[in-house]
Amino acid sequence: MNPERQKLFQDGMRQLPTLPYPNSSRNGEALDTDEAAIWKRVLNYRLASFLRPRLLLETHPGVGVSTSLYRHASPKTDIFYGAAMLAPRVDLIDVDPFGSPWDTLQKVKHLISRNCVVQVSNGEAHAVRRNLRRGQKYPTRYFGRRLPQWVVWEYLPRLQSVIGLKVRFFYAFPTTVRAILAEKELPETLWEGCPRWMWWLRKYAVRALPGGLEGFHGGYGVE
Ligand SMILES: C[S@@+](CC[C@H](N)C(=O)[O-])C[C@H]1O[C@@H](n2cnc3c(N)ncnc32)[C@H](O)[C@@H]1O
Repeated sequence: MNPERQKLFQDGMRQLPTLPYPNSSRNGEALDTDEAAIWKRVLNYRLASFLRPRLLLETHPGVGVSTSLYRHASPKTDIFYGAAMLAPRVDLIDVDPFGSPWDTLQKVKHLISRNCVVQVSNGEAHAVRRNLRRGQKYPTRYFGRRLPQWVVWEYLPRLQSVIGLKVRFFYAFPTTVRAILAEKELPETLWEGCPRWMWWLRKYAVRALPGGLEGFHGGYGVE
């Protein structure tokens, strides 16, 4: 890992409380898999601390690393798991599969109201980067180093229109994009220290997108 990545990794680790996290040898689920995995948990932790949701739905809790953080941030929150929940009035939904989120989003769509905050991971970024068209529900021509264009011009607008809420923050890593959507504005301090473009994406985002580093203010190629 280069020094810049290492710094981001360590900065993220410092933001997290010391907890008895579940052990996981499953690839991609450990707290410290990479800087994107750490920052996902930092944002989860901050968001739950800020929102104090009454009801939270985690569609893919895995071994429960984020669950531990949600519980610590907001002990009174009722947490539900899986995508087949019937109860209305969920305040926070975390869609965090490996791979594509589209099928899960269809299953939870009826739970999403204007007051809801929704977080979504999309591992199709890996397929987009490698131009593996079968790994993408909506194959794109923006592959490889043009992954930032896919994120901003295709993926985020599509996500907004499926969910019906605005993208308030996202970060992109070569294997995943994490987006946070809400109707209401959320404080910028929630994302402090988290770059939108991680690792080598930074270089290509700067070149390809006007204001590519920090240029997404809820309206960049997205209504
Ligand atoms: C990214 S991990 C979840 C990590 C967890 N949300 C956290 O932050 O600690 C995704 C989990 O979903 C599980 N999973 C189950 N069914 C899946 C599916 N159809 N597609 C993707 N992942 C699935 C994986 O095995 C894995 O445990």
